[in-house]
Amino acid sequence: MNNYLIDYSGWSDEGGSCQVYPIKDHKSWVFKEFRNKRKAQESYKYHKLLAKLDLAPKLYSKVIRLEFAEDEGFKPDEPSDWGYITERAYPIKHTDNSMKKIQSLVEIIQNKTGLKFWDCHWFNVGLVLREDKKKLVCIDTGKESFSEISNAWGGCPNLGQNVATVKNTNVDVVRINYAIY
Ligand SMILES: Nc1ncnc2c1ncn2[C@@H]1O[C@H](COP(=O)(O)OP(=O)(O)O)[C@@H](O)[C@H]1O
Ligand SMILES: [Mg+2]
Repeated sequence: MNNYLIDYSGWSDEGGSCQVYPIKDHKSWVFKEFRNKRKAQESYKYHKLLAKLDLAPKLYSKVIRLEFAEDEGFKPDEPSDWGYITERAYPIKHTDNSMKKIQSLVEIIQNKTGLKFWDCHWFNVGLVLREDKKKLVCIDTGKESFSEISNAWGGCPNLGQNVATVKNTNVDVVRINYAIY
């Protein structure tokens, strides 16, 4: 498994707690690298649970460290930090219809796992292909995603209102940044 190499010559992405790199010769896979092993294991635990239900991108490894591929004659001496290989997901458009889909995902996750996906903002969900159809899944499976602390907009009067009825204005766009239960 550790024969796979991180391709750091092209795109990469990052959030507050992880870095995402493509895998050399596997265009539809990414390596998610975390600050430390504990963070990687935490995210992996929730990811595995959701991936089994096809509510997160597929998993292609356990928690591992990977070597970097050589790029223009240069290769870092050290391997990556801890992380895992998963399916690449693609961003969604910020539309009212996407909001409905996020709300639906939030409800399915809660019904099937009991987890509340509080941090369900645009960049924590993504599209994967299933039988030629785009499917919305949770991509940020860090512990914080399922903690009410991530509900930055809790107490807002919109709580309890279905996302489907939230208008796509600047003010209301931030209100989608938490799950509505
Ligand atoms: N499976 C994935 N495929 C493609 N891009 C991803 C994937 N997972 C995460 N990303 C990108 O990396 C960013 C940060 O990852 P995320 O899981 O949200 O971690 P965090 O926000 O905790 O650092 C995401 O917002 C997204 O742009
Ligand atoms: Mg995130």
